Amino acid sequence: MARVRSAEEIRDLNTRYHDAAAPTYDAKWGIDFGPVGQGQVVGKLRKAMRANPAGYRRSLEIGAGTGYFSLNLLRAGIVQDATCTDISPGMVASLSSNARRLGLDVRTARADAESLPFADESFDLVLGHAVLHHVPNLPRAFAEFHRVLRSEGRIVFAGEPSLIGDRLAAVPKRTAATLAPIWRALWRAGVADGETADRSHHHGLEASVDIHAFSPGALASYARAAGFRGVSVRGEELLASWFGWFNRTLEATADPERVPMLWRRYAYGGYLLLQQLDSRVLEPRLPAAIFYNLLLTARKEVSSRS
Ligand SMILES: C[S@@+](CC[C@H](N)C(=O)[O-])C[C@H]1O[C@@H](n2cnc3c(N)ncnc32)[C@H](O)[C@@H]1O
Repeated sequence: MARVRSAEEIRDLNTRYHDAAAPTYDAKWGIDFGPVGQGQVVGKLRKAMRANPAGYRRSLEIGAGTGYFSLNLLRAGIVQDATCTDISPGMVASLSSNARRLGLDVRTARADAESLPFADESFDLVLGHAVLHHVPNLPRAFAEFHRVLRSEGRIVFAGEPSLIGDRLAAVPKRTAATLAPIWRALWRAGVADGETADRSHHHGLEASVDIHAFSPGALASYARAAGFRGVSVRGEELLASWFGWFNRTLEATADPERVPMLWRRYAYGGYLLLQQLDSRVLEPRLPAAIFYNLLLTARKEVSSRS
């Protein structure tokens, strides 16, 4: 049985895991700061809010990583003044270097989601992508988001794992793991030296940093308990996530140098196409709980604590 870790240990593991991941993070996850990345990020905001995102003057990102959300939102003109925080100094350094390369001016700080070094009511938008599932004390974190947000301000969190979606995605992962030797033989893509040991260590750490998966109701209840109103949770990615995890699991078993470009193009292009299909056909019709990712949005109202 897995050992129960203290909140301090989880924060420390997150810092070390993401420090180690930072230099190769963008390449691993295909993070883009051009039109494709901007389209994805603005699309997630639109999906969460069910409307075209308004412009925001001051934004704060929690667990900003290498800048996927904030840098794309700056480039798309959705936010004017972005503050990006992360618990991992390695991620903050990668974000700063991406911002410099793109000629963008951002404020950065190393900060834990549960203890934000900002005055009350400092921001118009508090946002995050794929971060809440790493945070040990979510009631404390949501109380902080509420505190630093001005009245009438908004929170948006996207890319949070859904409990049922995560279980469903285990099927393509297991299938791909079984088929991996045949796939490698077909593409003549050998197993990388030390692959087995490295991957089992990496996966052990991953299980320790991914501490929550949410039902839509549970995610909404954290926001409501902190005083937010107009809380809405939606689901995204079903076929795209199955396709993506199937291919990613195959690729992860091979020497990365020997995975052919043709395969990479097929995997990336197919994923983008299925994202469109999910978004246009399945997401408006099926319950949020079965999708792989959840998106949350809510408002801080003047009278929210009265
Ligand atoms: C899966 S990555 C996502 C990064 C980025 N938002 C993106 O979508 O590419 C999760 C990020 O959350 C950060 N993180 C983990 N625990 C945190 C905490 N308690 N407070 C703030 N950031 C945290 C990690 O360091 C990491 O950069």
